[in-house]
Amino acid sequence: MESIKVETPVFPLNRPRRLRSNKSLRDLVGGMRLDQRTLIMPIFVEEGLNEPQPIQSLPGQYRYPLSHVNEFVSSIADRGVPAILVFGVPKNKDSMGSEAYKRSGVVQRAVEAVKGSFGDELIVASDVCMCQYTSHGHCGILVERSERQSLDNDMTLDYLQRIAVSHAESGADVVAPSSNTDGMVKAIRQGLDEEGFNQTLIMSYSTKFASSFYGPFREAASSTPAFGDRRTYQLDPRSAREALKESLMDVEEGADIVMVKPALAYLDIISLVKEQAPVPVAAYNVSGEYAMVTAAAQKGWIDRKKAVWEILTSIKRAGADIIITYFALEFADWLEENYSPF
Ligand code: PBG
Repeated sequence: MESIKVETPVFPLNRPRRLRSNKSLRDLVGGMRLDQRTLIMPIFVEEGLNEPQPIQSLPGQYRYPLSHVNEFVSSIADRGVPAILVFGVPKNKDSMGSEAYKRSGVVQRAVEAVKGSFGDELIVASDVCMCQYTSHGHCGILVERSERQSLDNDMTLDYLQRIAVSHAESGADVVAPSSNTDGMVKAIRQGLDEEGFNQTLIMSYSTKFASSFYGPFREAASSTPAFGDRRTYQLDPRSAREALKESLMDVEEGADIVMVKPALAYLDIISLVKEQAPVPVAAYNVSGEYAMVTAAAQKGWIDRKKAVWEILTSIKRAGADIIITYFALEFADWLEENYSPF
């Protein structure tokens, strides 16, 4: 169909302020509404803790011992937030990250406990990566090549497969591979299907940039690389084409949900992926984005509530179907109070 061309009338025929004259009108024409039912709350579970530990770099967030996970998850479910994304912090690390795929590992036990108590009431997604589990802090298996340590892509895939299967065995509804290695979705889909988990969803961190905004997370999960950085596997922030290609490749490999991460500096990429990928798109409002708002609000330089609202709105408006955010619980509370800054 040919599109109809309409000239936007100019002032004084057009007075855009007419549409903004009161709140009911603004709500009527606003075009979108945020809902806690499209949010995912990340949760950190640490082995060997007795009490929840505050995370310095993420004020208001905690690492939980296994014994406190269900209590925290109750507070998530009670607020109508339907899903969690579980990160494990193991006691022991080694060069092969072997705690990551143990059936008795910290994530596996947490997932089992949550699914045992909440069943279908709560969607449990688990982060599938190695960086919290390897002594070197990289997201896979390292080999020495021309006197340099580098991440061996294909060897890493076997491990990711094992990790994902162990999470599915524990009851995870969704596995979320975040290492950004080539072929990770294909390998995981194959591994899951071979073990009879053809209903386990894959939410791929498909477009994941090498970003400074993960800083606070790395403190929270103690996953800072011991040397080097992640620029050989995570994406270069400059290329939108590469960003789109990575998500589309993951769709072809069988990802049920794709993801853009971080969110705020990459809103254009969220729109691009949303336009082209035929699956739901998640955006990860990452630790650095949480920390920036929190620090500025603590100084009194920014209104936390309004800023969070504006940020989550921008991510949604850009096209995200799902937002993974550390603000999920407080946001649900503000919705409950009928708060809106608009
Ligand atoms: C693990 C992983 C990271 C994040 C999620 N999964 C860290 C990284 O890639 O360095 C970051 C989440 C956040 O910053 O909130 N690979």
